[in-house]
Amino acid sequence: MDLPFSQACENNKRPILQYLQSLLADSTSVLEIGGGTGQHAVFFAENLPHLHWQSSDIPEHVASLTLRIQHAALQNVPAPIALDVNDQPWSCDRFDAVFTANSFHIMSADSVATFFSELPNHLSHQAKLIVYGPFRYQGDYTTESNARFDQWLKDRDSNSGIRDFEWVNKLAQTAGLKLSADYGMPANNQLLVWQTDHPD
Ligand SMILES: C[S@@+](CC[C@H](N)C(=O)[O-])C[C@H]1O[C@@H](n2cnc3c(N)ncnc32)[C@H](O)[C@@H]1O
Repeated sequence: MDLPFSQACENNKRPILQYLQSLLADSTSVLEIGGGTGQHAVFFAENLPHLHWQSSDIPEHVASLTLRIQHAALQNVPAPIALDVNDQPWSCDRFDAVFTANSFHIMSADSVATFFSELPNHLSHQAKLIVYGPFRYQGDYTTESNARFDQWLKDRDSNSGIRDFEWVNKLAQTAGLKLSADYGMPANNQLLVWQTDHPD
């Protein structure tokens, strides 16, 4: 059977896993936003069997996301759910971690802001937010190729675009999160990690 496939996902899943192994060592449940082809869900859940990995995507992409997840038939990956970050409240519970890859530059800036306003309702007491993708820092692209990628995104959809790290970090802080790591990743991407900012 031909399953949905992304070469980028295939390339980045091992470098991301290297970090998830320690980042999610003490977590039990993960909500994935914008699961896409399901390659991340299946690969991470296979390699991190202590996790219950709940993937999701916008309603029109759930059927294709379901194909790979159903095919893998992993005990720790339930059927994906339909979740558009703009449709509040999200119809799911709380999780120890929320993971999303390559979605903030696809969805609109308003959608990213909405994501952060709803997020606290779905995080457990000690939770992490892990975001993979390209970002700008102090208004600058990390590379010339990211600048070209941003222009390509905007030509395709004027609502898309590489987000400013500082803007995203401010949204995260307002949502009660504190940045705990910013890892440089292959192909001009970052892996950003925030955690719930409690006094205890
Ligand atoms: C470039 S794909 C990335 C897919 C996958 N995470 C990966 O890394 O290959 C962007 C994903 O964001 C999802 N997305 C776009 N807008 C969204 C929204 N408003 N709410 C939730 N997901 C959204 C798309 O449906 C798509 O699955």
